[in-house]
Amino acid sequence: MITKNDIEKLFSSQLAKIKNQEIKEKVIEIWLKGCEKGNWQSVAELEKMPFTLLTDTKGVNFIEHTITVTEGALALAEAQKKYYNKLPYAINTDRLVAGGLLHDVGKLLEIEKDGSGSYRKSRNGMCARHPISGAILAAEAGLDDELVNTIACHAKEGDGRPQVIETVLIHQADFATFNPLVMLSKSQLIQ
Ligand SMILES: [Fe+2]
Repeated sequence: MITKNDIEKLFSSQLAKIKNQEIKEKVIEIWLKGCEKGNWQSVAELEKMPFTLLTDTKGVNFIEHTITVTEGALALAEAQKKYYNKLPYAINTDRLVAGGLLHDVGKLLEIEKDGSGSYRKSRNGMCARHPISGAILAAEAGLDDELVNTIACHAKEGDGRPQVIETVLIHQADFATFNPLVMLSKSQLIQ
């Protein structure tokens, strides 16, 4: 069984950057709920799970992806804060980090083990992709609409839709990790 302590340990340095205690607790609670609903039993399982079924992830796992996207989005925010004379919009760090940690939490429901060492899309995933299932988990936990936007609109569901700035940054960090793998699989990544 995956415990609160497990999630706190996995994401310790990112969770430490969330100042609002209630948001931090909800992030952990939502991860636990996702693990429970998706029937993920151990941290080792999470660290084996590919972060997407859409391309060969070359061993990049779901936890590595979640942390990398969160840190990547934070770095994009930091660069703008540091090098713009005047930032044209406010960036909410709590929302950015919580959104980064939760953007793919719906994949705990969307992806399942196929019983022969591989992974497949679950029935839940066929009914609703992870941005939808993740947004539902976040809304059920009582997170605000803006945080729900970071999950609901971080992928293609958000294309051309209104987004908070934190969603934009998470989206870019997400696709900066996803696109090179797709290109690699199509021999389009020049190396
Ligand atoms: Fe992602």
